[in-house]
Amino acid sequence: MFDAIERVPGDAILGLIQQFKDDPNPKKVDLGVGVYRDEDGITPIMRAVKAAEKKLIADEATKAYIGSHGDPAYGEHVLKMVFGADSPVLADNRASATQSPGGTGALRLAADFIASQLPGKSIWLSDPTWPNHLGVFSAAGLDIQRYPYVDEHNQLDFEGMAAALKTIPKGDIVVLHACCHNPTGFDLSAEQWQAVLEIVTERELLPLVDFAYQGFGNGIDEDAYGARLLAENLGEVLITQSCSKNFGIYRERTGCFIAVAADTEAMEDVRSQLAITARENYSNPPAHGSAIVATIFNDAELYAMWHDELAEMRGRINELRQKFVQGLEPHGLAERFAHVAQQRGMFSYTGLSKDQVETLRDEHSIYMVGSGRANVAGLNDANMEYVCNAIASVVK
Ligand code: LMR
Repeated sequence: MFDAIERVPGDAILGLIQQFKDDPNPKKVDLGVGVYRDEDGITPIMRAVKAAEKKLIADEATKAYIGSHGDPAYGEHVLKMVFGADSPVLADNRASATQSPGGTGALRLAADFIASQLPGKSIWLSDPTWPNHLGVFSAAGLDIQRYPYVDEHNQLDFEGMAAALKTIPKGDIVVLHACCHNPTGFDLSAEQWQAVLEIVTERELLPLVDFAYQGFGNGIDEDAYGARLLAENLGEVLITQSCSKNFGIYRERTGCFIAVAADTEAMEDVRSQLAITARENYSNPPAHGSAIVATIFNDAELYAMWHDELAEMRGRINELRQKFVQGLEPHGLAERFAHVAQQRGMFSYTGLSKDQVETLRDEHSIYMVGSGRANVAGLNDANMEYVCNAIASVVK
């Protein structure tokens, strides 16, 4: 029976991890998968996370299931982080948190929820978007449509985006990146979020806000601007959240699917469905990551430590963006890559073509995603000049 099964290429982003490992060049640079790296190229375990884990090892009393919605304490902390502790959405008790195996698990919950409860609705993704959005939503059987996000000059095309959103059929779902847009790094301004709110209201669209990088752009509260604006002003919003990046606990698979409904009654109805969706997918989410997050939130000292470490990571990335543009100045390329300094989060849509990306990989052992997306956190003082020289050689 298996004779007819064809071999397919692996995931383009995850495949880069192996390609990079296999490359013997000592000068190799990994600007591929979206994990934070420090100045030594290491993806560190945050100090607050290590301390929380120590506490957990000492105190954890059971490994029993935590339930399909996950740890309630984790859910509450995530809701407060996403909406703000004094949010009217929380005061009105109309947001439900379902812990998920990472942000991808939250997206799959969202996709299955839409497929089963909102049949016939299309889902609209930015072009470009994180490639796995296409994978997850199509695996759930959803009809995928696109709206433009960047123009031919490699800048945010908000006009094109807004015009396209205005044509979306009523009731469809529109996926928005809360901050640190993956792959472009271009985020919406407060005015642009306001315009999106107006269009979404007018067209009666259901926003699904993907929120995987809270704290990596401008700060915990600053990065939540759009998600909070929509949730406070709309009856219904879906949010897929992740603690992978802001707690650096990627492999612990720690995310959350948040459903905001018009009132508590409606929220409880949706919530009851989500317990079933989770149960049918994986039953219960993994517990270690959520326990780390809850431990940090419950301890003022650990919380302050985590908050500072996150600010350090964010600051380092934003500094690297400046240094990268400066490093290209001697090559006469500062203007061409000026957008990199303005983008936010781990990723930068460099504007490099697929061919240029391949040349960088084959001739210089510099790895980035074929779309020209670079993980800025993979740069450091030791490799900056090498990377800038290599980029100059491929674009000239
Ligand atoms: C990325 O975009 O590199 C990250 O979100 C990791 C992944 O799963 O693709």
